Amino acid sequence: MLSIAFMPGLARADDQRTAVVVTPDGRDYILNEMRTMLETVQNVVGGVASGDAKATAAAARNSGMAMMKRIPSEIRMALPEDFRQMAMDNHASFDALAVAAEAGEPLKSQLTRLEQSMGACSACHGMWRLEAGTPVKMMGINKQMMSPETHGH
Ligand code: HEC
Repeated sequence: MLSIAFMPGLARADDQRTAVVVTPDGRDYILNEMRTMLETVQNVVGGVASGDAKATAAAARNSGMAMMKRIPSEIRMALPEDFRQMAMDNHASFDALAVAAEAGEPLKSQLTRLEQSMGACSACHGMWRLEAGTPVKMMGINKQMMSPETHGH
């Protein structure tokens, strides 16, 4: 039987996560970044396993603050402050891991850092989901544009 849980764009009735409404393009953009972050985790584990500090650092930096700074501002603006803060902390933790790997921190400690970074992946995933639609902040702009004052009559 086809359950409602398999219909695209619909959250399950028991889904307690808060929806972050972004444009369809914004959703694609963020999910693409998420897949990069998963690759970061894979490559950091690989770098630590082989004791290759350069590889670990490069993989970690790939999901560092630079990633956050590249997000187009219209997507960033649609994100709730709490969400943005969690994302920022998470990206910063990967930069810190890169620095630690380059400084020759023991591999076990690097893994502990990764574990803590991944705690943020899980925490955020437990709290939020993405929904393609019209972001709240854009609605505000639209309303303004449609108000009589801004139309000049
Ligand atoms: C600030 C919040 C946040 C953080 C931190 C975060 N994610 Fe996500 N991630 C999300 C949201 C929201 C989704 C979409 C979930 C949904 O709509 O059901 C998502 C989706 C994903 C997906 C699915 C991508 C796809 O193509 O469908 C992957 C993989 C993923 N995240 C990996 C990670 C990894 C790995 C980390 C940590 C290194 C991470 N995320 C950190 C919020 C976050």
